[in-house]
Amino acid sequence: MKVLVVGGGGREHALCWTIAGSPLVDKIWCAPGNAGIAQDAECVDINTNDIDKIVKFCIQKNVDLVVIGPEAPLVLGLADRLNEQGIKAFGPSAEAAMLEGSKGYMKDLCTRHNIPTAAYGRFSESGPAKAFIDVRGAPIVVKADGLAAGKGVIVCQTITEAHEAVDSMLTAAAFGNAGAEIVIEEFLEGVEASFFALVDGENALPLASAQDHKRVGDKDTGPNTGGMGAYSPAPAVTDEITNLVMDKIILPTVAGMKADGKPYHGVLYAGLMLTNQGPKLIEYNVRFGDPECQVLMTRLMSDLVPALIATCDGELKDFDLRWFDEAALTVVMASNGYPSAYEKGSVINGLEGAGKVAGTLIFHAGTGTGNNGEIVALGGRVLNVTANGSTIAEAQKRAYKAVDRIDWPGGFCRRDIGWQAI
Ligand code: AMP
Ligand code: GLY
Repeated sequence: MKVLVVGGGGREHALCWTIAGSPLVDKIWCAPGNAGIAQDAECVDINTNDIDKIVKFCIQKNVDLVVIGPEAPLVLGLADRLNEQGIKAFGPSAEAAMLEGSKGYMKDLCTRHNIPTAAYGRFSESGPAKAFIDVRGAPIVVKADGLAAGKGVIVCQTITEAHEAVDSMLTAAAFGNAGAEIVIEEFLEGVEASFFALVDGENALPLASAQDHKRVGDKDTGPNTGGMGAYSPAPAVTDEITNLVMDKIILPTVAGMKADGKPYHGVLYAGLMLTNQGPKLIEYNVRFGDPECQVLMTRLMSDLVPALIATCDGELKDFDLRWFDEAALTVVMASNGYPSAYEKGSVINGLEGAGKVAGTLIFHAGTGTGNNGEIVALGGRVLNVTANGSTIAEAQKRAYKAVDRIDWPGGFCRRDIGWQAI
């Protein structure tokens, strides 16, 4: 079969690498891809949000399955448009993608279906928003309703800070339209964890556990990022937690979406807080986590492609996915300055030697090819140095051995990925 992967980050490189290994697949494209993805798929120069062009390409090339990596094309309705043409699309409809596209929608769904989450209010005017904050007190969390590239959440330690956050979103429009409506919610205390499940409209199949590192600096300091590293399995997500999350959060969500006439198909990614009162939902994403996907894909023993198809076709009931026992860990290398402004075009050397460290794979994110064929950094997050090992500690050692062979003065990484598990 013929497959198109949409996206150009480390997540999509891991997906292309995995899908390219499936005996069911004889051709794979990636739009737009990157310099590393070009080794596993034919890259086509189409922007991820150019829905018309993607649909046209799929019709022209008789693509059988489209795997949509990022949230933006999902919220724009790419899966709907492909389905209208009879093309299978892995990823939810635009309506179902509102679970990530509108935090208020997600919170209201939780209320309707009794799903544990932080107490909240929805506001579009600053007066009532500030009055709500005054009553609830601090710490308190202020969130832009819509997609804000992972930056629309402000955890406020004081009432003054929370008032300022309201002003920045509702009055100064710091997040544009995404912040024209806001959610204000109770601050939850506990351990954060990510949870992934494939959902076929009715059934849900949990994936192996994975843990992200959101802050830019060692020991979880500095601003939030898209993710600076990940490992799998995540010891915090025990079998007991998995069962609780499935029963109290994932399955009621799947049933609720179906009852609302918005059946969910694709991977559902729950951001959780493991509190004293049990797991609570912080947010939903309607896609694989990046870089969590990278560690999950290297641990997957089963062929991913039949699972993707079963997800599209509503056939996940009794579906089984096998995982390798080995742990995996990925270290993200980012351009100096990330997550603020960073320079583009610095040259990366030593990738070949780094890739030779036992058990190591390097997934590319923001890379391109320079005039002389050299690999250059074009994005914020640029490389995902991924290693397997019998323990997370061994995977960590191998990953940093490979990192140390990469000669890239224009980039940096955290040196402590996996610390909580080790
Ligand atoms: P999000 O973009 O929704 O993942 O939020 C970013 C980060 O803000 C999360 O990973 C949490 O660390 C934090 N956060 C969001 N909501 C809450 C909450 N209700 N209580 C405590 N921390 C939160
Ligand atoms: N790694 C976090 C995310 O993909 O949103």
